[in-house]
Amino acid sequence: MQEKNIKITYKFYSDYEELEANYINLINIAEESLEKAYSIYSGFSVGAAILLDNGEIITGNNQENSAYPSAMCAERVALYYCKAKYPNTKILKIVIAAKSIHAIVNEPASPCGGCRQVMIEYEKLQKSKIEVILKGDSSKLLIFSSVSDLLPFSFDSTVLRQL
Ligand code: THU
Repeated sequence: MQEKNIKITYKFYSDYEELEANYINLINIAEESLEKAYSIYSGFSVGAAILLDNGEIITGNNQENSAYPSAMCAERVALYYCKAKYPNTKILKIVIAAKSIHAIVNEPASPCGGCRQVMIEYEKLQKSKIEVILKGDSSKLLIFSSVSDLLPFSFDSTVLRQL
């Protein structure tokens, strides 16, 4: 038996205003997008802003439903729209921002497992890293340089194609 470790490196900002203007712009766009979320059941609004290699910014927000499992997370709304519109354009960054009507979201928003799986599918497909930027209500912020840092040991298509 061997005990192994994995090390995850990420950046923590206690004040996101320290970031470059292009990051702040993308964060502002994600926060504008969460204001348009359809989140009447949970009161928890999430906004995603994706920067593409062609310079375009695609947004999405969570869309809930009276049949609860039919809801869709902000990240996947944005990612699927991106891939539907620009199937061959690389994704450079995704900002995920969150706000609740019930409480202050002190810690940066963390994407659910399903969204991590969708992000890693596209990261592997495009063969280049997608930077993930997480923000809640406070000015604290986390930056992961790759989706693989948020989903080690991920499932992927290689196991489906073995003879
Ligand atoms: N939600 C997202 O949009 N993204 C996540 O990664 C986590 C959760 C949404 C789904 C639901 O509408 C609300 O937040 C509460 O779970």
